[in-house]
Amino acid sequence: MMYFARPTKLNIMDEINKAQHEMAARAERKFKSLFEGDPIVVRSPGRINIIGEHTDYNEGFVLPGAIDKAAYLAIALRDDDEIHLMAADLDENFSISISELKPVGDISWPNYILGPVAQFVKKGIALKGFNAVLMSDVPIGAGLSSSAAVECATTYALNELLHANLERLEMVKMSQTSEHEYAGVMCGIMDQFASMMGKSGHVIKLDCRSLEYDYVPFNLDGIKILLLDTNVKHSLASSEYNTRRKECAQAVEWIKEHEPQVNSLRDVTEEMLDKYVLIKDKLVDMRSRFIVQEINRLQLACEDLKRGDILALGRKMFATHDGLSKMYGVSCDELDYMVEFVRNNDAVIGARMMGGGFGGCTINLVKEEAIPGLIKDISAQYEKHTGKKPDAYVVSVSEGTDKIL
Ligand code: GLA
Repeated sequence: MMYFARPTKLNIMDEINKAQHEMAARAERKFKSLFEGDPIVVRSPGRINIIGEHTDYNEGFVLPGAIDKAAYLAIALRDDDEIHLMAADLDENFSISISELKPVGDISWPNYILGPVAQFVKKGIALKGFNAVLMSDVPIGAGLSSSAAVECATTYALNELLHANLERLEMVKMSQTSEHEYAGVMCGIMDQFASMMGKSGHVIKLDCRSLEYDYVPFNLDGIKILLLDTNVKHSLASSEYNTRRKECAQAVEWIKEHEPQVNSLRDVTEEMLDKYVLIKDKLVDMRSRFIVQEINRLQLACEDLKRGDILALGRKMFATHDGLSKMYGVSCDELDYMVEFVRNNDAVIGARMMGGGFGGCTINLVKEEAIPGLIKDISAQYEKHTGKKPDAYVVSVSEGTDKIL
């Protein structure tokens, strides 16, 4: 069977917009109850990724979209160089002055705001202190890039308040660098790009080498994106993530000794892996082979999407999961359980773990009418099997970072 694209229904978008404005208004009210002055409120979303995982830092392609769950930052400049922050959902405060700016150790959330501040300092843009209230409905540690959402919101808001006239792409890069420097995760560009550049009803086919991109319509008739959260918090993620990066770089180094034109796994074929990597190290071969296959799989998946052959796209999502689990080694029992549970269900077009891995969500393309029943079944069985309660979110593909108030 084939499913074809159709325009987004207006009433759904209206509802999403209403909910977003309510969140923004709440952030503004909270700000006014704590600080003086009139803040602006910037919204920056989390993201999904249809296919193309761990390919961004290998100069491959990704296919992410912004979602209707976002971070909201209500923020106004001060006259001195102090930064006063409040995380409303956690009921936590944090203060520092710009002259003492550095990553903080005991709590993590201020780093997602301080990292972007440091990028403005590095660029020599004249800064001032500020007060800010952060609110977010992007689940934390669920692989939906809650941290990129806060980084992009902060970068965008400071650009507005300081009249720095930065291009969006520049702000994407600053947000990515702040994740490297203030969160210690050597992430690729996907999350910050999707958050900042997202477009309602579209996913983004991004070439992570040239940074050229296309918006691909993603309104599948009768099918919704269902995220199933294992509620396993990916604590291993940052160290293992950085290890995977090194394994990929090692493969490139070995191949480059023979093929000097090769600069990343984007330039590599499976034949090159056979010749130069497999003989040296089986693990490095398996890791980099997954990436070479995944870059290719994404290209084919985009063709499926163009033809409206969503079933073929779905099969590729399952193949991606198998590769991430068995070859790239970034899944976990709970993610595997969720994907196996839906694999032979006709109402589930495709499913896989999403994001960095070691926990977080699976992304499932599911026929709309089957969603309530599926959530009920999987919740009961998952809990029986793992002792953990899962969460389920039906999400829509939404707009990127913007000033809402
Ligand atoms: C995390 C990183 C991204 C990307 C994904 C895996 O979300 O932040 O840059 O590498 O993992 O695709």
